Amino acid sequence: MWSAGAGKASVEVGEAGQVQIHAFPGAEEVGPKQAEKARDLRNVVSVRYHSSPMTETGPIFPVCPLCRKHLEWNSESIACRHCGASFSYENRIPNLIVGERFDDDDDRARSEYEVLSNEHLSREYLIPTFRRLFPGRERPKVLSLGCGVGTDIDLLTEAGFDIVGIDCGNRSRLWPERKHWSHLFLANGKCLPFEDQTFDLAYCGCVFPHVGVEGDSNRVVPNYREERMKIAREMTRVIKPQGYIMVSSPNRKFPVDLFHGRSPEQPIPRLNPPWNPFLLSAGDYERMFSEAGCQNARTLPVKGYWGFVRMKQSWKGRMMAFPIDTVFSMVSNPGLGFLRGSIVNPWLAMLFRRSGGFQLGSW
Ligand SMILES: C[S@@+](CC[C@H](N)C(=O)[O-])C[C@H]1O[C@@H](n2cnc3c(N)ncnc32)[C@H](O)[C@@H]1O
Ligand SMILES: [Zn+2]
Repeated sequence: MWSAGAGKASVEVGEAGQVQIHAFPGAEEVGPKQAEKARDLRNVVSVRYHSSPMTETGPIFPVCPLCRKHLEWNSESIACRHCGASFSYENRIPNLIVGERFDDDDDRARSEYEVLSNEHLSREYLIPTFRRLFPGRERPKVLSLGCGVGTDIDLLTEAGFDIVGIDCGNRSRLWPERKHWSHLFLANGKCLPFEDQTFDLAYCGCVFPHVGVEGDSNRVVPNYREERMKIAREMTRVIKPQGYIMVSSPNRKFPVDLFHGRSPEQPIPRLNPPWNPFLLSAGDYERMFSEAGCQNARTLPVKGYWGFVRMKQSWKGRMMAFPIDTVFSMVSNPGLGFLRGSIVNPWLAMLFRRSGGFQLGSW
């Protein structure tokens, strides 16, 4: 039996590689190695975790999404002694979903493309952007909400972020292939299984348009605003008071949606009447996050976000990507930042903060 831990927290690993974790109120640091073992739920015998806010350096453990008290884990099931809820595993991934699942097609070809495209996104955009938000900071705690195929979780973990991802759709079927699959949890963004003020940053890439819609369509339901507000409130709740929220999706004001409604066989982009509420504008996001409790908002550069990896395989695609890349470079210039939320820019990336303003220099 190997055992490690500091003060009131400990992780024990048995001969057969089983893990037992004990953490108590006011738990001191559990080092990254122990945290890694602790999250490798393949081997968990039992976890007792009784702490309210974790220390700065402790691992991120989910709590009960219903009552936010600690969960008891064993290899068969996950239980909340407090409210009586019980959860299960799906393909070894803890399923903490409360409410509906996102009913998208289980489309292997789409998911494989998204693995490539998210690799580009993580390397060229997310990692440099997040490093800029936390200069010199060790292992900022990050949540990727609606992380889809989850490639960002592997790459950001390796880039030094303490990241977990959640999703409630079928792209999660690829998660067992992720190297850091133990950082992934099935959960609904409207009911997050994390304590208040857990993260330095919560972000989501193109999730809001897919909330408050009929199935996986671009038709909104009557209460779509309230459905989207639930996610905005949850993101605001789980970030630290000085933490950040980053969101991105196609800009409702741009007359064409280049990112939805296309299949590889159907290369014509979808027309987007700017009054169609499926997409969001910068103003929509600002109103939503202000109501959720964020006082500060700003648009971000978008250069590097999209690699158009599939499109650029053909000369036609390269010709289509060229003007979009040019607009992205243009609006990413700090002097032209005022154009980022306007009709000329197809893709929005925005940053929010509960308090503290933005001391980010020219960006
Ligand atoms: C367009 S995909 C984007 C995936 C990934 N963020 C990316 O950038 O490639 C939208 C994702 O949001 C997820 N999603 C939709 N509603 C959700 C909800 N209520 N909670 C969590 N995830 C949700 C879907 O399952 C899907 O994986
Ligand atoms: Zn509970």
